[in-house]
Amino acid sequence: MVILFYGAAATSKIQAHFNETAVLSCKFTNPQNISLNKLVIFFQDQEKSVLYEHYLGKGLFDNVAPKYKGRHISFDKESWTLYLHDVEIKDQATYQCFISHKSSNGLILINQMSSELSVIANFSQPEIIPDSNSSDTSYVNLTCSSTGGYPLPKEMYFLVQNSTDNSTNKYSDTIHQSQDNVTELYNVSTSLYYTGHDNAMSASIQCVLCPTDAHPVQPGLKEKCLLSKPYIIASKKKEPRSSQNDDLFWIATTAVILVIAVGSVGFLIQWKKKKKKKPDHSHSRECNPW
Ligand SMILES: *[C@@H]1O[C@H](CO)[C@@H](O)[C@H](O)[C@H]1NC(C)=O
Ligand SMILES: *[C@@H]1O[C@H](CO)[C@@H](O)[C@H](O)[C@H]1NC(C)=O
Ligand SMILES: *[C@@H]1O[C@H](CO)[C@@H](O)[C@H](O)[C@H]1NC(C)=O
Ligand SMILES: *[C@@H]1O[C@H](CO)[C@@H](O)[C@H](O)[C@H]1NC(C)=O
Ligand SMILES: *[C@@H]1O[C@H](CO)[C@@H](O)[C@H](O)[C@H]1NC(C)=O
Ligand SMILES: *[C@@H]1O[C@H](CO)[C@@H](O)[C@H](O)[C@H]1NC(C)=O
Ligand SMILES: *[C@@H]1O[C@H](CO)[C@@H](O)[C@H](O)[C@H]1NC(C)=O
Repeated sequence: MVILFYGAAATSKIQAHFNETAVLSCKFTNPQNISLNKLVIFFQDQEKSVLYEHYLGKGLFDNVAPKYKGRHISFDKESWTLYLHDVEIKDQATYQCFISHKSSNGLILINQMSSELSVIANFSQPEIIPDSNSSDTSYVNLTCSSTGGYPLPKEMYFLVQNSTDNSTNKYSDTIHQSQDNVTELYNVSTSLYYTGHDNAMSASIQCVLCPTDAHPVQPGLKEKCLLSKPYIIASKKKEPRSSQNDDLFWIATTAVILVIAVGSVGFLIQWKKKKKKKPDHSHSRECNPW
């Protein structure tokens, strides 16, 4: 069987969101208006595993690779397009569409198209969580985290806006990452050790996460990046006790009340026991030889 090929193979870059649908097109116009009954269309990945085959007018599943047999895949005959549903990170690959004409001369390859698929997943809105362990108000350790994204973000940092002098400073530190075994999505976090409390100034702190495909961030232009809700640090002068300390105060008060309550009950029980035992004591004393 002779396979001839007319025309150069083209490659297009395509993108799909995780868990959505990837669109793999053959970019075929069928200029000769060849009937589907005379065409063999198939899609394969870079490892030559077949995703789908349309053989002389109908779907043929014999050649479909086992790893694609359980997948939700559909083909649109009108647009020569394959839909790979519920996209996973591991679907990132280069896919090829081949269209051959079955004629008396055998199979003649009349169209070939490559699609380079990249998969992305949006990170969640970053969230700033203070280290609640510390009772020392001269500093706060803020951790910003975001989940379920792909690929790793290009940038992740804190923006500290000082409301006294209106200055904005950017702080970045190591980005800690972990990857889900199954979905291959990333969780990321970074920390800021903020000691500005000493200056008795109030500040608004935001965490910024810029995905890899975002445009470079310029000051005041960060639409493509994700912003956390501002974490407000109130001036010490205006508000001597932070809400965190209020919590600690109430926890401490509750603890003290509990200790007193438990103590009193214990004391009462002991006291009652002693009261009951007293007659016994006096009795034994009476029996005591001395
Ligand atoms: C994929 O999307 C479906 C709904 O379309 C949802 O139920 C499912 O939880 C999603 N899976 C993941 C891993 O996000
Ligand atoms: C293509 O062929 C079909 C019949 O196989 C015909 O109905 C249709 O009109 C043709 N289209 C063009 C553009 O020639
Ligand atoms: C991902 O984020 C972009 C905006 O950055 C939005 O347009 C798109 O709808 C989001 N996609 C999903 C699946 O959440
Ligand atoms: C948190 O508290 C534990 C014990 O209460 C202590 O061992 C640890 O060092 C504290 N961590 C920080 C970051 O202060
Ligand atoms: C701040 O908290 C993070 C996460 O809990 C921790 O990894 C980091 O060591 C802490 N930094 C300081 C200076 O305490
Ligand atoms: C801080 O900036 C805002 C606008 O961003 C402006 O209205 C305000 O006057 C500035 N305050 C100081 C103290 O510069
Ligand atoms: C993830 O993979 C690691 C090593 O391959 C394994 O130790 C761990 O138990 C896995 N976790 C889950 C939730 O499957």
